[in-house]
Amino acid sequence: MKILVVGGAGYIGSHMIKRFQNTDHQIDVLDNLSTGFKENSQNYKLHICDLSNKEQVHKILKENKYEMVMHFASSINVGESYDHPMKYYENNVINTLNLLECMIDLKILNFIFSSTAAVYGEPESIPIKEAQNLSPINPYGKTKSVVENILSDYDKSYGLKYISLRYFNACGAHIDGTIGERHNPETHLIPLILQTASGRRNNFKIYGDDYKTKDGTCVRDYIHVMDIAEAHLLSLEKLIQTQSSDIYNIGNEQGYSVREIIDMVEEITQTKIPYKISEKRKGDPAVLIADNSKITEKLNWRAKYSDLNTIINTAWEWEKKLSNF
Ligand SMILES: NC(=O)c1ccc[n+]([C@@H]2O[C@H](COP(=O)([O-])OP(=O)(O)OC[C@H]3O[C@@H](n4cnc5c(N)ncnc54)[C@H](O)[C@@H]3O)[C@@H](O)[C@H]2O)c1
Repeated sequence: MKILVVGGAGYIGSHMIKRFQNTDHQIDVLDNLSTGFKENSQNYKLHICDLSNKEQVHKILKENKYEMVMHFASSINVGESYDHPMKYYENNVINTLNLLECMIDLKILNFIFSSTAAVYGEPESIPIKEAQNLSPINPYGKTKSVVENILSDYDKSYGLKYISLRYFNACGAHIDGTIGERHNPETHLIPLILQTASGRRNNFKIYGDDYKTKDGTCVRDYIHVMDIAEAHLLSLEKLIQTQSSDIYNIGNEQGYSVREIIDMVEEITQTKIPYKISEKRKGDPAVLIADNSKITEKLNWRAKYSDLNTIINTAWEWEKKLSNF
């Protein structure tokens, strides 16, 4: 299949395109390189284009006759989404609408969407099933939930077939050490702790230590980026086979607290992590753990790299490379 990976120069997208090597699919990348890196997509044709440029997006889709689009491009920083919700609605909703409008016009009706556990907000129960009501708290999560609603309506009216994948905490780096997480500013827990271990950061902040959890710090479900890429490949095959839309959690059904992550980083890096306790952040639920039974049963997906040891070891190898540790 001829597939366009939008946002393929970013963290998760770059692991996706690498996973496509040695498959029969033909992959190109579209990215504006706002947070992505050209070298991440060096083995692929890269269209440098912003999704706000509908004419250019239409031209690229038309000329290259893509049959499917995987959409990783978005703004992803929860804190920033409170300060600049307009940026988030523009990039995550309006720009996605642009892409979908071009696709529908050209009758490209297969779509895989990067959603997030942030669509659930404060969960009704743990582990979280896909059927739970969505009540996202932060603007970032709201934009993803809006897109999921749009996708459902576009399926009914235009026959768009989609799979929306709600990732829990994406983490880790490729096991071959060539690619990994490189957000700037970095807001994700594991790279922040590792940057403290490598000396790129003086200390690390724990946001709140009086949550109702085992040790008072937030508990999250960490899922290795290579397991996310595999879930995309299985979703693509399922979508081609069944031509029916669906939504899946991608998580590991395992919760680790912030302190447990620090402990594991200290063990692997053999470095003491200095940390400070700070105020809780807005919109941070105490516990987020996925129920992954739907994706394991329907797509036969299994997490292979998401044990904490592999996550932190691969991320640490990557951090050592970035920091010349
Ligand atoms: N990283 C996580 O923990 C996590 C968790 C849940 C969901 N997600 C979702 O996964 C997707 C990928 O996240 P990531 O961590 O790889 O982010 P990233 O910032 O590393 O990658 C996003 C890519 O999209 C590109 N992009 C952004 N806006 C664009 C635009 N308007 N036009 C063209 N290209 C554009 C960026 O240049 C970048 O290469 C996002 O949709 C995000 O919401 C990520």
